Amino acid sequence: MATAELAGKHLVLGMTGGIACYKIAELTRLLTKAGATVQVVMTDAATQFITPVTMQALSGRPVYTSQWDARVPNNMAHIDLSREADAIVIAPASTDFLAKLAHGMADDLLSTLCVARDCPLLVVPAMNRQMWQHPATQRNVAQLRADGVQVLGPDSGPQACGEVGDGRMLEAAATYEAIASFFAPKLLAGRRVLLTAGPTFEPLDPVRGITNRSSGKMGFALARAAQQAGAEVHLVAGPVALETPWGVFRQDVQTAQQMHDAVMHAVADADIFIGVAAVADWRVDHASEHKIKKTADRALPSFAFVENPDILASVAKLPHPPFAVGFAAESGDLEVHGEEKRVRKNVPLLIGNLGPLTFGLDDNEVILFEAGGATKLPRADKQTLARALIAEIAKRLPDTSLIR
Ligand code: C5P
Repeated sequence: MATAELAGKHLVLGMTGGIACYKIAELTRLLTKAGATVQVVMTDAATQFITPVTMQALSGRPVYTSQWDARVPNNMAHIDLSREADAIVIAPASTDFLAKLAHGMADDLLSTLCVARDCPLLVVPAMNRQMWQHPATQRNVAQLRADGVQVLGPDSGPQACGEVGDGRMLEAAATYEAIASFFAPKLLAGRRVLLTAGPTFEPLDPVRGITNRSSGKMGFALARAAQQAGAEVHLVAGPVALETPWGVFRQDVQTAQQMHDAVMHAVADADIFIGVAAVADWRVDHASEHKIKKTADRALPSFAFVENPDILASVAKLPHPPFAVGFAAESGDLEVHGEEKRVRKNVPLLIGNLGPLTFGLDDNEVILFEAGGATKLPRADKQTLARALIAEIAKRLPDTSLIR
């Protein structure tokens, strides 16, 4: 999550009764950390699972639980609390509350707020699998979707009752991601994005290999930003220890050849290709099948190298290439090498990392090279930069009707 990703957003976070209330403590922390202001409203049932005191401490605002609460100046909490809200999020949303929403009932503060709102409504269901599957619940959820309500989840897996199935509330982090995604401008709606990220690993023998210090952070941040911008995202990742961004299809590979094959297999479906991976230029010709052992005479092993395929150049060479974007990390003279590399790779846009020390760091500074010249973007954390880069890419896309 980027710092202040939700700065300026005001959310009414409505909690209804369910054991998943414990997840809302963490969700509130994530939302406030991202800059959102969070006004918690709880039903009576929710207060049986977690106290308003806890939620007040985490949100930094007094919690409302009653329609008759006189703290709102004109005594109209059911109207006033949602007027400044950018969205109402109901989490956890119980079976009962979904039913009430679907029927427009307004018999407590939270349900009345939802009916009286003029902002989007997001619900995050949490219930036993049989309650979720019940035809009445499914009917209510279908009705809510038809009414324009966003339904986030539910997840599948073990439940507090001991059963396993659909109905678990999304984890706090996934709920956060879905909310952040909801607010992101849909600059890539309907587009399909293919990316490579991370390093590659070229084996020398079954236990050793050649790799590099790419952490994958920039590529994963771009995959997340593209997903949030409404794209369908396929991420081909080298060996990295990063979580898959929410809603992104991830394919793990080890070697440059595997990354090349995965990309070539998927590229026909892509409107945009972004080569962020630090792909090894060479691999060992015939890696040893067995672990290379030290010999009695301590002779040093030697290796013959062969060149790996250039994935970005192969994509750019296709008869109908997607809009292809490359990255470049140079150890000097980026201004000169960046444009030269863009032309050599035959891509419309090449993003140059300023300074070789970006590997593994959380922030970055880049220059965009394109036929019309070079543009520098301000230094920022990689998530913020990824959003800016996705906006820059979206601006440069040919009209959808002209894409292949
Ligand atoms: O030539 P260089 O490795 O500096 O180019 C970097 C750009 O080319 C990056 O976008 C990288 O993902 C891509 N690349 C590639 N396949 C290679 C080498 C680089 O796709 N074998």
